[in-house]
Amino acid sequence: MKENLVIFNAKVATPLGFSSRRGEEMAALHVIDHATVEITEGMITYVGPPRRGERPGFHWGYYFYDAQGRCLLPGFVDSHTHFVFGGERSEEFSWRLKGESYMSIMERGGGIASTMRATREYSFDQLRVKAQGFLKKMTEMGVTTVEGKSGYGLDRDTELLQLKVMRSLNNDERKTVDIVSTFLGAHALPPEFAGRSDDYIDFLIREMLPLIRREDLAECCDVFCEKGVFSVEQSRRLLTAAKEQGYLLKLHADEIVSLGGAELAAELGALSADHLLQASDAGIRIMAEAGVVATLLPLTAFALKEPYARAREMINAGCAVALATDLNPGSCFSGSIPLTFALACIYMKLSVEEAITALTLNGAAALNRADSIGSIEVGKKGDLVLLNSPTYHVLPYYVGMNCVDVTIKEGSLTPALSKGEGARRQCGE
Ligand code: NIG
Ligand code: FE
Repeated sequence: MKENLVIFNAKVATPLGFSSRRGEEMAALHVIDHATVEITEGMITYVGPPRRGERPGFHWGYYFYDAQGRCLLPGFVDSHTHFVFGGERSEEFSWRLKGESYMSIMERGGGIASTMRATREYSFDQLRVKAQGFLKKMTEMGVTTVEGKSGYGLDRDTELLQLKVMRSLNNDERKTVDIVSTFLGAHALPPEFAGRSDDYIDFLIREMLPLIRREDLAECCDVFCEKGVFSVEQSRRLLTAAKEQGYLLKLHADEIVSLGGAELAAELGALSADHLLQASDAGIRIMAEAGVVATLLPLTAFALKEPYARAREMINAGCAVALATDLNPGSCFSGSIPLTFALACIYMKLSVEEAITALTLNGAAALNRADSIGSIEVGKKGDLVLLNSPTYHVLPYYVGMNCVDVTIKEGSLTPALSKGEGARRQCGE
């Protein structure tokens, strides 16, 4: 719901700009003490020093909220998730704890294929309720925009079902998270096409891409470009067709094997290349040159016990790095923003400032939305996060614990999070 809101007495910290921040720009946050942020009908209309007459309560058509010196950031953008799916894979997780690899489980019919079977059994309502549960948790952690992928149907109807669930959640009047949908039909080879992966790519190009475009069900097209899944050549063929049909491009690239996914992302002008645990030096260089956002997913590396992506090398090479959770039922059953901050700063050596840029403006850029979200600037959406502290340094310090007090979506305070400090209490109600 688009609201009128004035937050005063806040410590604003935000990257600035209407495009991704690259290389050393990522560390530059604009900080304003005792700041006022005005949101009119959901859009930011003022950011700056205090103005006269600011006190809590309703005045002049705005609700005035006293931030009491706490830190105010742009809403977090989780630009890579798979939050619509059926079932779960905890048993498989235990196999991995005993030493089996993610790929070997996939090769013997588990992994993505197991979630595909479960998802095909779910109704629209069942999928929607489950996905909505994740959105609620995201809001509590400060996420105001999330990307969600299909890819657990791997047939016409179930792929459409996943995308329709996302559209329905995004059209909800009372939503607290905006959803950007991505078509990931090329997530795995479905059993119906066993041994015929080129035919499956043809099916996606000829039938699925035009259908999804016609129904306006996804903005982006993604592919799991990986040894034993879809080759660089197949990925190129699919994404080239997707681009011609008006999709923006994303890739699951160089996650397990260094295959050249980063290079392909640059060649095709993709919005982002994601994972990149095994990205080559040349791939990193060429992504920086092409302005492809390098979306890193530390929770997945952690859960798979793989080495983290080379974030420092990427930033030093001039890349725009984004961070996202990769929430999914297999490789990473976590949408934890707090743990993402902690891992990025502790193990990937991002500064807190860089991590904030990676989870706000650069996440927005990875979704082609840097012109409308990702920073606290006049003209952008009033999507904000109020921490429980005057300093943003709590973000990685709270290892896996939430330090978000209030999430603000287009000027609307999330009610469940305003308890204690809430709007009504400030009004004396
Ligand atoms: O981003 N790598 C491929 N896709 C997902 C995992 C999907 C799954 O295991 O269900 C990922 O990690
Ligand atoms: Fe993923």
